[in-house]
Amino acid sequence: MCMNPIVVVISGLQTEDKKIFMGSIVPRFPLIVFILFNFLDNIHAGVTSSFIRSEWPSDDMPLDNDAFAVPNGYNAPEQVHITQGDYNGKAIIITWVTPDEPGSNQVKYGKEEKNYDFTAEGTVKSYTFYNYTSGFIHECLIDDLEYDSTYYYEVGEGESARSFWFQTPPKIGPNVPYKFGIIGDLGQTYNSRSTLNHYVESGAQAVLHVGDLSYADKYEYDDMGVRWDTYGRFAERIQAYNPWISTAGNHEIEYMPYMDEVVPFKQYLYRYPTPYAASESSSPLWYAVRRASAHIIVLSSYSPFVKYTPQYKWLKAEFKKVNRWKTPWLIVIMHVPIYSSNSAHYMEGESMRAAFESWFVKYKVDVVFAGHVHAYERSHRISNIEYDVTGGVSYPVPDKSAPIYITVGDGGNQEGLASSFNDPQPDYSAFREASYGHSTLELINKTHAFYHWNRNDDGKKVATDSFVLRNQYWKKRKLEENDLHAITPTPELDAY
Ligand SMILES: [Fe+2]
Repeated sequence: MCMNPIVVVISGLQTEDKKIFMGSIVPRFPLIVFILFNFLDNIHAGVTSSFIRSEWPSDDMPLDNDAFAVPNGYNAPEQVHITQGDYNGKAIIITWVTPDEPGSNQVKYGKEEKNYDFTAEGTVKSYTFYNYTSGFIHECLIDDLEYDSTYYYEVGEGESARSFWFQTPPKIGPNVPYKFGIIGDLGQTYNSRSTLNHYVESGAQAVLHVGDLSYADKYEYDDMGVRWDTYGRFAERIQAYNPWISTAGNHEIEYMPYMDEVVPFKQYLYRYPTPYAASESSSPLWYAVRRASAHIIVLSSYSPFVKYTPQYKWLKAEFKKVNRWKTPWLIVIMHVPIYSSNSAHYMEGESMRAAFESWFVKYKVDVVFAGHVHAYERSHRISNIEYDVTGGVSYPVPDKSAPIYITVGDGGNQEGLASSFNDPQPDYSAFREASYGHSTLELINKTHAFYHWNRNDDGKKVATDSFVLRNQYWKKRKLEENDLHAITPTPELDAY
């Protein structure tokens, strides 16, 4: 019997009340909250949020919206975006589009604003999609960067040149703090814009995008290319500064025989390069990077992954490379959720679960982020690796070695929300809500991280679903005084 008065008070509340109570005391008593969150972590009572999202338009913003404004100047670079360029975070790939002519492939960069010590030479290409012809897509790899440094860079020429900045991650290490934002199924609506605004307010340093970017495939013929361009200009406000580590969703496939366009992922791959070769992948659609204290594995839901396929063989080899002493946090991102109790896309992730779930458990993956379902849902630690098609064992069970599965396909695209959850809520589902939002994962040290899901409606001060995530590999390590000090929230976190 628990005699701690605070625990007794909490135990007497309904689960929904517990969350409200927790939210009210988070700012003032972070250590108590940490203890209580760990207590609540053991409660297996799923919550379906009663929050009803007010109706906002889910339409794409019109082409003349200021979010899509073309930068001033002849042939001015647009759609600037960056992603990690190597395995360990010392390189970056910069991509931009010039509309009128190829222009320069050069990137000027350095540690002082407007005073660039270095240049790098990239490449340029373009493509056609039906009768649409893309702008000139430039791609430039900058390597040998110093860790934990701010770099300024400039692309374009003369008066049309544009400058931006990025920050390299700290050197890889077990206790290196880092904050990721997780965004999925973003699109280019007013809700998408709200999501990006909230991401900025969260103070995250890099984006894990779980697929379905522009939703350009909701259009036809030449308008598809046009909507890839508007998406690129819209997302530039973040993508030019924070690296986006992306996977491809179904809206990137664009298999359109009626337009004679039958090469899957064509527009996505022209526009969004990945550092796949650095992790010895044979395809830009699946790869891995290490960043700060995290090893991030990016999987492709729409590429072959069954036994003997290239993705299967690559993942088998990649898991063996993971070193939890250097990168304690093991994160997997994919598009289709393996566990989701939403009626939208129900069970679509079952085939990848059958292929990979046993590895997720064996290698103690901390968390799997997915999108596809336009709602938010978080699972308990469960697995279905005992599934036996002839023996009738077919239900997920609690499994302390399993990852937490989080669906965050709620970036705000034009298809709207997936508001129909299966009823009753299955035991494996911990929390679910049909709203727009994004998540943050703040790695504190090798044992603990703060996780937040932020509902767009509430502004930056409300984290709707939050908990302390204990590292799967290191969680049995005894907490020491310094660790407790290290996980005390910063003043910035207190604002949530
Ligand atoms: Fe999707």
